[in-house]
Amino acid sequence: MYVNSKKKACEEIGILSREYSLPAETTEEQLVDLVKQLNCDPEIDGILCQLPVPKHIDDETIINTIDPSKDVDAFHPVNVGKIMIGNYDFLPCTPAGVMELIKESGISIEGKQCVVVGRSNIVGKPQAMLLLHENGTVTVCHSRTKNLKEVCLSADILVVAIGRSEMITGDMIKEGAVVIDVGMNRGEDKKLRGDVKYDEAEKKAAAITPVPGGVGPMTIAMLMKNTITAAKKHKGLL
Ligand code: GUN
Repeated sequence: MYVNSKKKACEEIGILSREYSLPAETTEEQLVDLVKQLNCDPEIDGILCQLPVPKHIDDETIINTIDPSKDVDAFHPVNVGKIMIGNYDFLPCTPAGVMELIKESGISIEGKQCVVVGRSNIVGKPQAMLLLHENGTVTVCHSRTKNLKEVCLSADILVVAIGRSEMITGDMIKEGAVVIDVGMNRGEDKKLRGDVKYDEAEKKAAAITPVPGGVGPMTIAMLMKNTITAAKKHKGLL
């Protein structure tokens, strides 16, 4: 679903995109070779490997092979390090999209209690860092957090990226909180659900994102932004 949305967005704004839909038996070496080939291809400004990859391939090896200047997901350790310091070229797409949603809604982050539920490298960890850069007071919760409900109830801004369908219920949300649901869980009924029980949360929240149609489109938009940044940098325009 994500790959199709990414291709469609490229078409809409006039970015060339190439999809390499490889068989599951592809070896790590073959994938590394393809990335190296794209690193050297002057027609290509951005490269991403849609995760997860099959178990016999180490995702870290693949990410580390991508030229940091073409790493439009911002997953390469060089880009992760730059984000940590606060002097970066690219931001990871989903956390960047969440920040845009907050800012465009006129919500101030400074001094607020920000709770991030989930600690993945793709969302939770960089999200916490971006909220911190905006002077939020940030707490990161995860599957082993003992007092999850209590911590969530303290949140002025709650970002949920735990990957468990409708885990955050209305009684875990403070009246007037901003709730951002990064979850994308496909139920047995094939319906897409977030990590937040929307019907309950909506009654408490001052602002809330739906699933689908909330964070997802923002992720795609940020990928387009990163790709344009990469192209400008490669052409010496930035
Ligand atoms: N899998 C889940 N989210 C992402 C993402 O943002 N980028 C890539 N490449 N794979 C993902």
